[in-house]
Amino acid sequence: MEAIKIENVHKTFRSLKKKQKAVDGVEFCVDTGEIFGFLGPNGAGKSTTIKIMMDLIKADEGKVLINGIDSTDYRSRKNLGFLPENPSFVENLTGMETLMFQTSMHNIQKREAADRAHKLMNLFELSDSADKQIRKYSKGMVQRLGIIAAIIHKPDIIILDEPMSGLDPVGRYLFKKTIRQLNKEGATIFFSSHIINDIEDLCSNVAILNKGKIVKTISKNEMKYLSSAGYKIIFEGNAQSAAKAGKLSNVNGVENLGETLYAIMIKEAELLIPVLEKLKELDLKVISIKPIRKDLESIFIKLMRSAK
Ligand SMILES: Nc1ncnc2c1ncn2[C@@H]1O[C@H](COP(=O)(O)OP(=O)(O)OP(=O)(O)O)[C@@H](O)[C@H]1O
Ligand SMILES: [Mg+2]
Repeated sequence: MEAIKIENVHKTFRSLKKKQKAVDGVEFCVDTGEIFGFLGPNGAGKSTTIKIMMDLIKADEGKVLINGIDSTDYRSRKNLGFLPENPSFVENLTGMETLMFQTSMHNIQKREAADRAHKLMNLFELSDSADKQIRKYSKGMVQRLGIIAAIIHKPDIIILDEPMSGLDPVGRYLFKKTIRQLNKEGATIFFSSHIINDIEDLCSNVAILNKGKIVKTISKNEMKYLSSAGYKIIFEGNAQSAAKAGKLSNVNGVENLGETLYAIMIKEAELLIPVLEKLKELDLKVISIKPIRKDLESIFIKLMRSAK
């Protein structure tokens, strides 16, 4: 089932002198139970798309369905948690008061709410600041509180705009751990980022946005396929045979790894068997075959360049 469906969404910002097309025909689906990444450079239109999903701004065209309900209907947000790009809270309230207020809006009993708030503040290492006013929080502390506020009512769908921005390594680790756990318990998670590693780590599907358009949607399997850059074959034998191996067709030289250990690289999987047969003929002993991966970063840059 589709938890989130975005159909042909367009949005142009208009001022007196300028028109800015921020979202240009965006379409994608997020299945129930998955972690979906929304990846794109600064200004790509991620936050604008998310604001339309949350009905904070209106699309010029197209629609968004959340659990089958149109996002312009408030009921679409009944079981939803949301972290905006720059979360802000009432500065004079404490973190604990903020969470108690949030949970009261979701009809959660006071005792249960206090229990959840304590546990989550403890998990996100905010316990010491629970009774501090938010105006005394650092940027990362506000972000942590924002994440807690987005999940404390145990929503089915969690939408987060740049959740890891402003978080230190511990905060990022805690966030990733929590997201994995919530997903295990059944939550669908959608989050934007321009940091590829964060997305690569967590997501089963990724939509890549550039200049308001989806450049590509990639599944985890495709990510593996796209990131394949060939194979490194490590073998043992005498220098003369190793040099011959480096001259085989489709092999671009041989690398001496020390003593009688050598390595060659091949680009495609179908070359593996013929090359291995040749190595055997040359009396070279294969020690290991390692797939070589490009990271998502180089794929992303290539896609961005080809989309220009
Ligand atoms: N309220 C607005 N009025 C005019 N233009 C806007 C408005 N909000 C966004 N834009 C423009 O729309 C485009 C997309 O902005 P958006 O905030 O959606 O990008 P983003 O992908 O979230 O970027 P970032 O990674 O920097 O958060 C940008 O060119 C931006 O200048
Ligand atoms: Mg943004």
